[in-house]
Amino acid sequence: MSVRLGARDVSRAFGPVRANEGVSVEIRAGTVHAVVGENGAGKTTLMRILYGLDQPDSGTVVINDQPVRLRGPADGIGHGIGLVPQELAMIGSLTLLENLVLGTEPRSGPRIDWARARGEAEELASRVGVELPWTALADNVSISVRQQVEILRALRRGADVLILDEPTAALAPAQVDDLLRLLRGLREAGRTVVFISHKVDEVLAVADEITVLRGGKVITTRPVGDLDRTSLIELIVGQQVGFTGFVPSAVTGDEVLTVAGSVSLSVRAGEIVGVAGIAGSGQDELVERVVGLRPPDGRITLAGQDISTLPVDRRRAAGLGYISGDRRSEGLSMDASLADNTIAGTHRTLGRHGWLKPSAVRAYAKRVLDGYSVRYGRTTAVARTLSGGNQQRVVIGRELDRDPKLLVAAGPTRGVDVLGMTYIHDKLRALRDNGSGVLLVSEQLDELLDLSDRIIVLHGGRVAGEVPGGPASRTAIGTLMLGRTPS
Ligand SMILES: Nc1ncnc2c1ncn2[C@@H]1O[C@H](COP(=O)(O)OP(=O)(O)OP(=O)(O)O)[C@@H](O)[C@H]1O
Ligand SMILES: [Mg+2]
Repeated sequence: MSVRLGARDVSRAFGPVRANEGVSVEIRAGTVHAVVGENGAGKTTLMRILYGLDQPDSGTVVINDQPVRLRGPADGIGHGIGLVPQELAMIGSLTLLENLVLGTEPRSGPRIDWARARGEAEELASRVGVELPWTALADNVSISVRQQVEILRALRRGADVLILDEPTAALAPAQVDDLLRLLRGLREAGRTVVFISHKVDEVLAVADEITVLRGGKVITTRPVGDLDRTSLIELIVGQQVGFTGFVPSAVTGDEVLTVAGSVSLSVRAGEIVGVAGIAGSGQDELVERVVGLRPPDGRITLAGQDISTLPVDRRRAAGLGYISGDRRSEGLSMDASLADNTIAGTHRTLGRHGWLKPSAVRAYAKRVLDGYSVRYGRTTAVARTLSGGNQQRVVIGRELDRDPKLLVAAGPTRGVDVLGMTYIHDKLRALRDNGSGVLLVSEQLDELLDLSDRIIVLHGGRVAGEVPGGPASRTAIGTLMLGRTPS
């Protein structure tokens, strides 16, 4: 059977980091091929090479059974390959239609033919079974919608191989289902899909073949039928994984957070309070009000102090920690060094007389980064050079290390691998057991059920109900999320 796209003995190093080492894969035409592996395993590096965004130090890319040299993404596109990157790069101030045709606008004479562009867009969208608000600005639509536009953009440029780098990391469960359906549709239409994900259930549900990378090397490629959840996780991490599961809080203390307004709730010291809901049910607004990114619609107190009108930095000084799953816009400064990113918000306590001692900064950063198993070269490297999951670990390390009175964790394990997720969950429980309060917002029901002592369910911007943590609450949450009353 023919190899539509592949790598033959590909190696790529960044300084001392061997991102890919002797990697060989064969992606057969008309299949969904998953590539899985821990944070920093080399998945994104390999995809960039297969698309022509990066070149291997040695080895070669194979297209239609032939070795080829891709000098840039234009070559990849020329060979019918499209890439939807891990961090979407759309222009927020342009409409979806403008983003779709950017650089390849249909013209009539010197003018852009918008009517034709619109027609092409509609035609493409209906072919893959999606409907898009073409005149909306990219900034004003969900990640899931932007992703669909990126997929159509690749198809419009003639791609019949679509590489998707962690497309589901930022999606809600219902959107994941839609995407997996779209991918199956592409396969049925004879296209080839390369799919990266940390969620083994998704991978097992959609892939025909699975390649596992670890430490830059291919561990194995198997047909999906040869694998189950447990065996796949073991291949990814190279060992058996123990999951802690639900462990309720032993002691709770005074309220560390109270929120009054359209959503009212409280979090006590020594307690993890989960927030569940279908995407867009008021979770974002709640988080933004608590951390100070949106004006309050009622009183908010932190450890007894009214913080309703305080700016973000004063809230942080008062004991608030914040982990956002959207590390690019909120968590990290991508062009700043790891050291600077790690000390951000802590620098006041590190310096003396307003001066930071570089050696102290380095030592502090190293301790935090090593403590959270961040895979990095030097503390002077800029955040952008870390793999996606490793960037998220930097944010988590920084926020937990400050020992906040209240931690707001919104999608904390987004893009983090299986082992990292259990590790972070254990750290959140440890923080709680140490007397902090945690407000956990997540679209992952398993994460909420495993971690939360109680779960508040939002619907239509209001509290629909509250249930205890633990696996028994699954059905009740599902019912409340839809705005119904559990029987
Ligand atoms: N431009 C770069 N400069 C320096 N190091 C890099 C660069 N790109 C990747 N690396 C390093 O190469 C290794 C592999 O990174 P890669 O992004 O391929 O991992 P990944 O498997 O995609 O991980 P994740 O699941 O976290 O996204 C990492 O250690 C990363 O820090
Ligand atoms: Mg990656």
